[in-house]
Amino acid sequence: MSIEARIADEQPETFKFSAENEKEIKRIVAKYPKGRQASAVMPLLDLAQRQHDNWIPMKAIELIARKLDMAEIRVLEVATFYTMFNLKPVGKYFLQACTTTPCWLRGSDEMMRCIKDRYAIASGETSECGRFSLLEVECLGACVNAPILQVNDDFYEDLDYASTAALLDSLEADAPLPVGSVMGRSGSEATSGATSLATLKPKQSGVANA
Ligand code: FES
Repeated sequence: MSIEARIADEQPETFKFSAENEKEIKRIVAKYPKGRQASAVMPLLDLAQRQHDNWIPMKAIELIARKLDMAEIRVLEVATFYTMFNLKPVGKYFLQACTTTPCWLRGSDEMMRCIKDRYAIASGETSECGRFSLLEVECLGACVNAPILQVNDDFYEDLDYASTAALLDSLEADAPLPVGSVMGRSGSEATSGATSLATLKPKQSGVANA
């Protein structure tokens, strides 16, 4: 997708961080050595996105550039490089579907087919109801439980056509299924269950113990 296509045509005339986020920005920037405040660009983009209904307007890019003493184009380069940053409005449920090789080998085509069958949208588009946006992304770093669909901040794993449909049903009802493996495996253990340390029982804290 071209950079122009990723940026909203309609933009707000102003953007300012909330008082709470201004405090958070001070805390984030203080973590970096003097003169290295540009290192805070990603957390600030994330704050802007969360504050602004899950997308970053160009006025926020300009503001972040001023705050971090960066050229605006450098902030925009970062915002357009990472697919997790949205530069135009997205639906309430932002679906990032991984189709990189491990997910593809484990059936991401079926996951994608289910989403497309239901909403008739391609990557980069939003459903007619306005609630679901789809983006095809590269590896989400959870290949062991492929295929993966990220819904806003959460990962759903081990999906096929039927389980993707069930997940979408739950989102439509605003009652999302529990996050993680839809086949119920714990963490990234084998699909057949634990194959080593099999006699250890997890403690309530989630830490394995004898
Ligand atoms: S290839 Fe999909 S999570 Fe890595």
